[in-house]
Amino acid sequence: MSTDDTTTTDDASTESSCGASTATDGGAAAETTTDSACGGATTDTTTESACGGATSSSSSGCGASSDDDEEEVGATVDDFEADPGQLVAVGLGPGQPEGMTARAKRALADVDHIVGYTTYVELLPDEITDDAEEIYDTPMCGEVSRTEEAIDRALAGNDVAIIGSGDPNVYALAGLALEIIESKGATASALDFDVVPGVPAAQSCAARVGAPLVNDTVSVSLSDHLTDMPTIESRLHAVAKEGFTISIYNPWSRKRRENFEKCCEILLEHRPPETPVGVVHGAGREDEQTEIVELGELEALGETDLIDMTTTILVGNEDTYVWDDRMVTPRGYETKYDY
Ligand SMILES: C[S@@+](CC[C@H](N)C(=O)[O-])C[C@H]1O[C@@H](n2cnc3c(N)ncnc32)[C@H](O)[C@@H]1O
Repeated sequence: MSTDDTTTTDDASTESSCGASTATDGGAAAETTTDSACGGATTDTTTESACGGATSSSSSGCGASSDDDEEEVGATVDDFEADPGQLVAVGLGPGQPEGMTARAKRALADVDHIVGYTTYVELLPDEITDDAEEIYDTPMCGEVSRTEEAIDRALAGNDVAIIGSGDPNVYALAGLALEIIESKGATASALDFDVVPGVPAAQSCAARVGAPLVNDTVSVSLSDHLTDMPTIESRLHAVAKEGFTISIYNPWSRKRRENFEKCCEILLEHRPPETPVGVVHGAGREDEQTEIVELGELEALGETDLIDMTTTILVGNEDTYVWDDRMVTPRGYETKYDY
């Protein structure tokens, strides 16, 4: 996710009544719906649903930890009269159309409505946005209201995709969707809920720097608005101490530069400063940048364009080395075979 990209495209924003009465008329991402009457709200607003009386309040609590910022789920299954449509969580992969799986493209072509974070909607190929009946996008944060919006649209009888980068099971919305469906008194089966996998950032980014993750690997997210920092720290200690290769997601933002500094400090407690680290910004996107550095150099990069919320950092283990500008983490074959 890019912290910079928080604007919505509102040149043709329409009010949705969830019943697909306001189609995008074959428009691209620029003609998307941002104002919904179907349970979603992008900021501190409450909306009344035209499809069953849903009220969903949402504050943009991204990065904040106050209880006041919690998003609340509105309508329940009893508020909807229609036969439900299908809800599918689709992983887009790293960002470019060629990084999407054929199954993801097919799933998006098959639905009526697409719901997602504005940046991801803008990454969709034109043929998908042109064909979608309705697109509902909101800026960063508001994950709960956005997910609820997708669910309410499906409960109102539409086939809906909720999209995200990478894979829906990696720091993404597949689990939240199931939790909200349950809290509404609906069932995943009634919505024929499905998950279409995508290539996670760790793997897209690993591919850019050779073969850094080939052995046992653990992912850690430095975003502390959902997991508190002491927990993140203790996980980092455990993972670094045990010698896993590490994929670090959500590594840096202005609000949480201390998390990144702390992370570098912890890694250096357990690994030599020469440990190879792959830093990949915007894999598969126009502003992609890739560098292989040493662990001892990592912290200083936190203040550069290379590391932000669209960067994944891949930390090698004690066996990882750099050869011919590529990271190599041996799988262990060398202990059994001569080559
Ligand atoms: C909320 S997580 C979503 C992860 C996603 N579901 C996945 O499977 O990769 C967002 C984080 O994923 C990573 N990320 C997403 N897209 C990326 C890309 N194109 N290049 C590098 N890292 C990316 C960054 O660490 C970012 O902060």
